[in-house]
Amino acid sequence: MSDLKFDFSGKVVFVAGGSSGINLGIADAFARAGAKVAIFSRNPERGLSAVQFLQRDGAQVVGLTGDVRDPSAVAGALSDVFTQWGAIDVVVSGAAGNFVAPAVNISPNGFKSVVDIDLLGTFNVLRAAYPCLRAPGASLINISAPQGLVPMPMQAHVCAAKAGVDMLTKVLAMEWGPQGIRVNSIVPGPIDGTEGMRRLTPTEADRQAVASAVPLRRFGTVEAVASAALMLSSSLGEYITGVVLPVDGGASLAGPGLFSSRL
Ligand code: NAP
Ligand code: COA
Repeated sequence: MSDLKFDFSGKVVFVAGGSSGINLGIADAFARAGAKVAIFSRNPERGLSAVQFLQRDGAQVVGLTGDVRDPSAVAGALSDVFTQWGAIDVVVSGAAGNFVAPAVNISPNGFKSVVDIDLLGTFNVLRAAYPCLRAPGASLINISAPQGLVPMPMQAHVCAAKAGVDMLTKVLAMEWGPQGIRVNSIVPGPIDGTEGMRRLTPTEADRQAVASAVPLRRFGTVEAVASAALMLSSSLGEYITGVVLPVDGGASLAGPGLFSSRL
């Protein structure tokens, strides 16, 4: 974890997809820094156990259930948080889906599912958040992926979705900048112990191949990604907007990388 101490006391944070993995780590970092945190995801049992984990030191945390593909569920959750806690200071859009398949084996509905969760879901979250945001001051963070920066075989759906997420980041940074709302993407590299990496690297040989393709020669941690989210949302990030920030050990410099050898 960062050796900087962040203070988000009194701030309100909404994390879409906050019940597991990287997004849960981000929610936890904000909760530990004193923020009130709302998480939003589909599975209520997983949501409840995440809330209990986040509340372990007495943090104020609420869990809301819904699908980012459902604009009214998203809007309802954000408006509940706004009514309960007031203007929202930080929104993290991190819900995503992934599976590994060559394009010819991805059905139109499979492609649509991932684009709907990652890209349309991010639009739904940010669009519905807009009237609930602290302005000036809000920090919006989209969790993207190296697939948005470099083409990756077996990941046509994710590449298309995450490239769209990063462009949405830049457009909204321009449109909402005049209101003092900042919008950035964080691009995690391969992060240890996550569902995403379990899907992408099912075997130890896959893990080794990925780690050796990363310039820093290792997987990253959830804490490293969370530290970037805290930094961007703190006063350190006050003049940063519209950036796509890799937190990936240099992985996105390495070209198509992962999966090329499987073609
Ligand atoms: P994860 O553990 O599978 O977390 C995904 C979260 O999103 C869960 O809370 C899940 O809960 C929620 N979610 C999924 N679909 C949803 C939907 N339709 N509506 C609402 N919530 C939904 O994933 P992760 O591996 O930590 O990845 C998190 C983010 O980091 C993703 O945006 C991913 O693309 C990005 N990323 C990850 C890696 C990595 O190394 N893992 C690398 C690069 C980028 P429910 O299933 O209960 O809804
Ligand atoms: N290969 C090819 N197609 C696949 C697939 C795979 N491994 N897994 C799912 N699909 C297809 C399904 O066949 C279906 O298409 P069809 O109706 O033409 O048959 C389509 O994807 C939707 O499947 P469904 O089970 O209804 O998924 P969903 O829309 O509820 O969920 C997923 C989306 C598939 C991405 C699901 O894995 C998910 O919810 N993942 C969240 C967790 C995650 O992926 N974490 C990692 C984040 S990086």
